[in-house]
Parts: sequence; C-alpha cells; structure tokens
Amino acid sequence: MITRDQAWQLLTSRMQNRNLRRHCLAVEAVMRALAKHFEASAQKWGIVGLLHDGDYELSKDTPAKHTLLMHAWLTEMGETDQEILSAILSHNFVHTGQNQPANYLEWSLYCSDELTGLIVAVALVMPDKKLSSVTVEAVLKKFPQKSFAAGAHREQIALCQEKLGIELDDFIALSLSAMQQIASQIGL
Ligand SMILES: [Fe+2]
Ligand SMILES: [Fe+2]
Repeated sequence: MITRDQAWQLLTSRMQNRNLRRHCLAVEAVMRALAKHFEASAQKWGIVGLLHDGDYELSKDTPAKHTLLMHAWLTEMGETDQEILSAILSHNFVHTGQNQPANYLEWSLYCSDELTGLIVAVALVMPDKKLSSVTVEAVLKKFPQKSFAAGAHREQIALCQEKLGIELDDFIALSLSAMQQIASQIGL
C-alpha cells in the first residue's frame, strides 16, 4: 500500500492549487476520524481522502475522467489495494457511470467530501475566519440554507444517517473536530 509520504508526493506533483490541496487535507483528516469510528485503518482511509481529488486539476474540464486518471497513476506506481482504488473511483460515480459507493469507506468519502466544503464556508463567515470559532450549531444553522455554499450538496452529506448510521449532528461534530486539529495546515 502506498505510504502517506508517497501519497503526498503524488498529490503535490499533480496538484498545484493551494485551496485544492487544502480540500484534500481536510478530507484526509475527516476520513482518518471516520476510520477510527468504524475501527478501520486510519492510514488507508486517510490516503483515500488525501488522493481522492488528486487528478482534479487535469480532469476538471472532463468530469468523466475525474478519478480515472488517479486510478491509472496509482496502478502505474504498483498500487494493488483494491479498497483504495475502488474508493477513489466511487466518489465520482455520477460522472464515470461506474463504482457506486458500496461500503463504509466509500460512503464516508462520499459524505465527507461535501461536508468539508460546508464547514470551510462556515469558517469563512466567522468574524475571525477561524475553524476554532465554528460550532456544530453554526453548521447546522447553515445546513438548510441552500443558497449558502450551494456547491456543498446537502443531500449527499445527509446520507451519513442512512449509509453510515451516524446522525447528522454527530457527523458534523466528528468532522469539525478533525478539521480543527489540522486548522493551520488548511489555512483556517
Ligand atoms: Fe472529486
Ligand atoms: Fe473532493
């Protein structure tokens, strides 16, 4: 299995945009916390989070290629861990037409991908723009406001209940805490 150092090297060699890298770091942190919740491998789940959008700069104009490029790069590097390869593919099944999320790892990525965006947006409207000022209540308040951070798909986040068995407020609390622990790395 690819190491965290190798994954970071791969990510930063293919992705230059600072905010995109920060998104990947945020999802990594949440995925590690979710792995602990499910008593799974934090290292593996973290790598899935870190690399899930690694090809985005090269695929943003061709959504059907998003995740397929990363899948190819990892395979070329000798990665054989099917859980990692499948999970990365699964978060873009809407555009590739393959690999709908099918397990806790994959649904965790699918739900946390969008929630991290919502939490960042809430941090940015805090007076000090800091993650440390964000509360679960503040995120819940913005949750039904569809025009706020419209790109953070609420129905995708809300699947945490059905697919992960985690209530929305608990899912927000877990994710917010994980992101707060790496706040300086993501500039918040
Ligand atoms: Fe993506
Ligand atoms: Fe993402």
